[in-house]
Amino acid sequence: MAQFEDNFQRKFYYLRLSLTDVCNFKCTYCLPDGYQTETQRPQFLSQPEIQRVVTAFASCGTSKVRLTGGEPTLRRDFSDIVHLVSSTPGIDRVAMTTNGFRLAKSAAEWHQAGLTNINVSVDSLDPRMFHQITGENKYRQVMDGIEQALAVGFSQIKVNVVLLKGLNDRQLPAFLDWIRDLPIQLRFIELMQTGTMDDFFYRHHVSGQAVYQQLLGQGWIPKVRACHDGPAKVLAHPDYQGELGFIMPYEKNFCASCNRLRVSAKGKLHLCLFGESGVGLRDLLQQDEQQTALIERIQQALGEKAVSHFLHDGHSGMTPHLASIGG
Ligand code: 5AD
Ligand code: SF4
Repeated sequence: MAQFEDNFQRKFYYLRLSLTDVCNFKCTYCLPDGYQTETQRPQFLSQPEIQRVVTAFASCGTSKVRLTGGEPTLRRDFSDIVHLVSSTPGIDRVAMTTNGFRLAKSAAEWHQAGLTNINVSVDSLDPRMFHQITGENKYRQVMDGIEQALAVGFSQIKVNVVLLKGLNDRQLPAFLDWIRDLPIQLRFIELMQTGTMDDFFYRHHVSGQAVYQQLLGQGWIPKVRACHDGPAKVLAHPDYQGELGFIMPYEKNFCASCNRLRVSAKGKLHLCLFGESGVGLRDLLQQDEQQTALIERIQQALGEKAVSHFLHDGHSGMTPHLASIGG
């Protein structure tokens, strides 16, 4: 099968697959009022549906799958899904993005099932501020989880920090101290405006570029980009074991290195986080015989992928919050 590619020669070797919209945290920038249950119980992709979508992507060049949400580990069959994805021929990396609440308990089991990379969100190293930002008093539990993940052998751990003015933006020194002797990558994510945000964005948005420049002045050195790297800009420092990654979606050219496609928990293909309503795939996930038709539908949709998002014009597209599409 031909590799998935769009009209701008971007190849998509990386699939972000959401397993559920549900989350048990209430991050102020994402689900400030918590996850709202729909009147009808939502049906998220089943294991056979997941198997089919991952097999189709793998046969067209995808080698890395990230399991997202909502909070993906709220699925009771999470370990089985990790196993199923990691056993799919062609898939050599299985990553997940988590709020970390189950990490301490289950890191070993997930490692065993074939999980290779973990991204955990920690928006503050101060337990009270962590509580304030996430709505959950689980700082200790999450930090224990990271320790446990390192202990059971995960070598690729990244920690996501959404930069927030007036909240964690003054805690940069504490974050840097933390990774002096820890081999993890801290990822500073610039706050993105989403559909349900009112003035939160204007009150708390910090330019990632300003922080990036500040660190360049403190001996941090840009790492050379490998051709498969995504949009993060990475800094290293001779005195630190850890690294820093910057995700700055408002930067010029951010989209040029886009290498990912997204499939939502209800089986819609999203070409970009922002600005479109998605292409339904679910009707083609019901039988193994539908694989060719499934691949054709994805290829056709890719022909329509735009060169860039339109965030600069204040359009945040349809995305109400990132829990609905998996970051
Ligand atoms: N802006 C930036 N990052 C966000 N995340 C969720 N919502 C936003 C937003 N509006 C982050 C979470 C998590 C990752 C999946 O996306 O903190 O680390
Ligand atoms: Fe949940 Fe992640 Fe959204 Fe926080 S950012 S509410 S952990 S989905």
